[in-house]
Amino acid sequence: MLPRLLFACFILPAVLSADPKPAMRVLRDQCLGCHKPGKAKGGLLLTTREKMMKGGDTEVPVKPGKAADSLLYQSVLADAESHMPPKKNLSALEITALKTWIDSGAVWDATVFDEAPTPKPVKLSAMPASYQPVLVLALSPDEKRLAIARANAVIIVDLTKPERPVLGKLEGHTELVSSVAWSRDGKWLVSGGFQRLFIWDITTLKQARVLEGGLLGCITAVVVDASSAAIFAADGETGGAGFIRKFDLNTGKLLATWKAHEDNVLALRLSPKGDRLLSGSADKLAKLWDSANNKLVSTYEGHTNHVLSVAFNKDATQIATAGADREVKLWNTLSGEQEATLGDKKTPCSTLTWSPDGKTLVALTEKGGGSLYTDFVRHTGGERSEAAKTRKLTSIPETPTSVVITSDSKTVFAGAFDGKVYVWDGATGKTSGELKL
Ligand code: HEC
Repeated sequence: MLPRLLFACFILPAVLSADPKPAMRVLRDQCLGCHKPGKAKGGLLLTTREKMMKGGDTEVPVKPGKAADSLLYQSVLADAESHMPPKKNLSALEITALKTWIDSGAVWDATVFDEAPTPKPVKLSAMPASYQPVLVLALSPDEKRLAIARANAVIIVDLTKPERPVLGKLEGHTELVSSVAWSRDGKWLVSGGFQRLFIWDITTLKQARVLEGGLLGCITAVVVDASSAAIFAADGETGGAGFIRKFDLNTGKLLATWKAHEDNVLALRLSPKGDRLLSGSADKLAKLWDSANNKLVSTYEGHTNHVLSVAFNKDATQIATAGADREVKLWNTLSGEQEATLGDKKTPCSTLTWSPDGKTLVALTEKGGGSLYTDFVRHTGGERSEAAKTRKLTSIPETPTSVVITSDSKTVFAGAFDGKVYVWDGATGKTSGELKL
């Protein structure tokens, strides 16, 4: 007789090899469309194991361990009476996956529902030359340079000279540049476009690497981690789930992918220490992540529409979120509680940022108005008049897309859809012109 341990070795691999994922992917891709809440054909739901085991109008469709006796398996066979999916035949591989899965107990693995879909090939039409929106601004860590994503290029401006001359232009994207980030060591600039990211060597202004394959839709936001070793990028199909990817900056290797939100991620920030990642999404939520293990730390729930912009204060004890619901909210980072609301609630704030010294929060509205908030009072119970001192910024005639402020709070730059970068004097709130690009 075989010793028990050895015996276990013989049977275990067979059981373990029945990975539920291939079968669950068949259910996800071929069946769920007609067997989900709101569209439970034949009364059958395949969204959870419990629901599946409740069965549909006729019988429990899965008899764990017995594929041949299970209606779910019988119905996908070519000669099935009531064939599933109704107008299509599954491949032999898919049918085998379902059989193996049921025969080995129909173990449920819901993680496949959170997997990123395979990107669909898209042919981008040429951009009209007249369309030159500035979608993102990024201030270099030493604040000597400003990166301006305008249409399909990134323009680098020298902020150390009074005339703020253009230092160079990073060209390579053929699509709109929708996200930009500097590495904290000041060596790299990362730009996100459609289904790809470019890494630029900032000393030579040359492209060092392209990250593509698997990325979905527009890269809506990007940040580089504190040690300038990893990139976090947000992607997703329009209106689909929002994913965050982590790449090795030096090799371009994809290190992790996780479904962060049920809808597109619209904003991403790294905490000043670099240990936390903050995401804002069209699913109305902001979420805090541990940047080392990608685990969810906190969820900020309260906006009734898209979260458009997010920011950390200096020590990351407080975060600010701007919603399409016309609310700017301040939250206690740790407790997840809302501490105050700012603004007049009349127009949505399209972009906001906190000065690196934490003293000033700038928020710009979709109509081109803006405010500087200083002297924050904590725990005011939401009284907007008491939460902070407010200084209005001179309005601009366009919708701002992105805002940055220098750490001395003296200068504010905002990019806008009209292709311009507007400048304000932080002390007076008056516009001091536009950058010459
Ligand atoms: C295009 C819609 C559609 C898709 C896709 C689909 N089904 Fe169905 N399913 C139906 C309809 C409609 C019924 C109701 C029975 C009928 O009219 O044939 C049904 C019934 C069933 C039933 C019987 C439920 C009961 O108790 O009567 C099973 C089992 C089933 N489907 C399994 C599957 C599996 C497995 C897949 C994927 C491989 C799948 N279906 C994909 C539409 C669909």
